This record gives sequence, structure tokens and C-alpha cells, in this order.
Amino acid sequence: MQNPYQPYPVRIDKIIVETEDKNLRTFRLVFLNPEDEKAFNYTPGQFAELSLAGYGEIPIGIASSPTEKGYLLFTVNKVGSVTSALHNMKEGDLMGVRGPLGNSYPLKELEGRNVVIIAGGFAVTTLRSTITWMLDPAHRDKYGKIIFIYGARTPGMLLYEEEWSAWQKRDDIDAYITVDREFPGWNGMVGFVPAVTEQVGPSPENSSALVCGPPIMIKFTQPVLEKLGFSEEQIIMSLENRMKCGIGICGRCNVGPEYVCKDGPVFTLAQLNQLPKEY
Ligand SMILES: Cc1cc2nc3c(=O)[nH]c(=O)nc-3n(C[C@H](O)[C@H](O)[C@H](O)COP(=O)(O)OP(=O)(O)OC[C@H]3O[C@@H](n4cnc5c(N)ncnc54)[C@H](O)[C@@H]3O)c2cc1C
Ligand code: FES
Repeated sequence: MQNPYQPYPVRIDKIIVETEDKNLRTFRLVFLNPEDEKAFNYTPGQFAELSLAGYGEIPIGIASSPTEKGYLLFTVNKVGSVTSALHNMKEGDLMGVRGPLGNSYPLKELEGRNVVIIAGGFAVTTLRSTITWMLDPAHRDKYGKIIFIYGARTPGMLLYEEEWSAWQKRDDIDAYITVDREFPGWNGMVGFVPAVTEQVGPSPENSSALVCGPPIMIKFTQPVLEKLGFSEEQIIMSLENRMKCGIGICGRCNVGPEYVCKDGPVFTLAQLNQLPKEY
């Protein structure tokens, strides 16, 4: 058995600058040993610890889908010491990945249901993974209607333009992409995610909503979903608490009795409502 603290060695195969401020970059990582790729058996919604020798580890959601073979994608916002060190790395450099960690979106339970996916800012990462997985020809007919609502402050801060542009052209997903206000050259939707959600008005009937975004977006989207008739069991969220070990040992991430790293990061609103409001 692999030591749970031992990262797999990976090479940075490609770095994609995602946003106009250059602070969000997607790192495409390739395993040095093909057997490690097989062992790294993940499901959308999970995360991994990215490990940089001499700097430390950071928990980051897996943005690629298991249907995308040969690499892993992680989109990282530059906020502090380890993320800055990662942003200084170059294609070809070596680093480590430890995981996969945590639970995932309940893809099995979502089968046969309509899925509303609501994202704000760079919290869209594991939802990119989820949508890519659901739209794969091997999985698409297991799900009903898929609605994707995604917003960022400006057009230049939207991630994964290539993917959502392609999704907008498909007839088996309704993708609504919005920015906070009018911008020259932007012909898409304008408005905050909660308002767009209200405008789109997804039906709660046989539906679940996956919601990921900054706290302010969550705060105002939750009542919109409740007004539309979604129950707390039908609303699913992913938390990003501070973490260290990522495997339920150090106690750094717990909220009440739950370890966000092991029992989460994905919880229903019904589960979160049972916890102290410290997440
Ligand atoms: C399950 C999970 C998934 C995540 N997925 C992503 C992702 O896909 N992309 C991404 O860019 N980030 C993600 N994060 C957040 C990421 O782990 C932190 O931004 C990172 O650890 C910061 O490391 P640092 O050494 O650069 O910052 P530090 O030097 O440790 O801190 C810099 C600043 O960031 C703040 N900070 C650090 N960690 C967090 C945190 N977890 N929540 C809020 N503020 C924090 C600190 O308070 C400080 O102000 C995720 C976190 C978790 C727990
Ligand atoms: S990060 Fe150590 S217990 Fe969750």
C-alpha cells in the first residue's frame, strides 16, 4: 500500500494562464510512472495535495475528469507562499501529487436526475471535472437535463473558455455564462450568479443543484434555490477549509464532528445545517 503521506512524482507538462490578471493558472501534470496514474483513481469533486519540495503542500481541487486520460489538471490562484512558488515553476519541472483525497460529488445518486451546476469565480474547478464526466458519451444518458450557470467579475476572469464555449454549442447542456456588468465586446449575459439563477429558474423537480463559489455568492444563491423549491437535501456544496494532512489525522479541518478533508469536502446543505457555522 502507498504511504498516504508519500506524493507521486509528476512533471509539469503544460501551464495555461487562465485569467487576465495572470493569477490563475492551470497546471497539466503527467505522472512519471504509468502505474502511479492507474493507482490515482479519482472521481469528480475530489482534491489532491500538490507538493513542492522546500515549500510545502496545498490542497487543490482536481479540475480534470477521469475521462481525460494521461494527465491531471489543477487550476491554482496565486494567494500565498506555496501557490506563488508553484506559479514560478516552468513546464518540465518536477513536483508531487498526493491523493486523491476526500469524497466526491454523488454522481451515482445523481443518475436519473436533472443536475443544476452553479459556479462563481475560480470555484468552478471541480465542477469542470463533473460536467466533463457527465457529458462523456459513456455517461451522458445517465443524467437528465444539465443546466450550468457560471459567473465571474469580468470576461477576462472566466476560466475554461474553450470548454464552456463548446458546451454552449451543444444541445444536451444549457450553459449560461455571466459577468457582473457590461464590458465592451462581451455579448453574453450580465448579472450576478444569484440573479441569473433566478432568471433561468431551474425546476426543483427530480433535480439536484451543485453549488460552488465565494461565500457571498453562496449566501445569495441559497435563498434563490430555496425560493425555487429546492430542499436542503437537493443542494450540494463543496467546502475549502484550511487543511494540513488531508486524510483525517491532524484535526486541522474539522467542523464539529466532521473532517472536511475526509468526510467532505462535498456536503449537502442538510448536512451543513447540522454543523456549527464555522465553515
Ligand atoms: C478541498 C480544497 C480544494 C481547493 N481547491 C482549490 C483550487 O482548485 N484552486 C485554488 O486556487 N485553491 C484551492 N483551494 C485553496 C488553496 O488550498 C489555498 O489557496 C492554498 O492552500 C494557499 O496556499 P499558500 O501557501 O499559497 O497560501 P498561504 O501563504 O498559506 O496563505 C495566503 C493567504 O491565503 C489564505 N488561505 C490559505 N488557505 C486558505 C483556504 N483554504 N481558504 C481560504 N483562505 C486561505 C491565508 O489565510 C492567507 O491570507 C482549495 C482548498 C481546499 C481545502
Ligand atoms: S486536514 Fe488533517 S484532519 Fe483534515
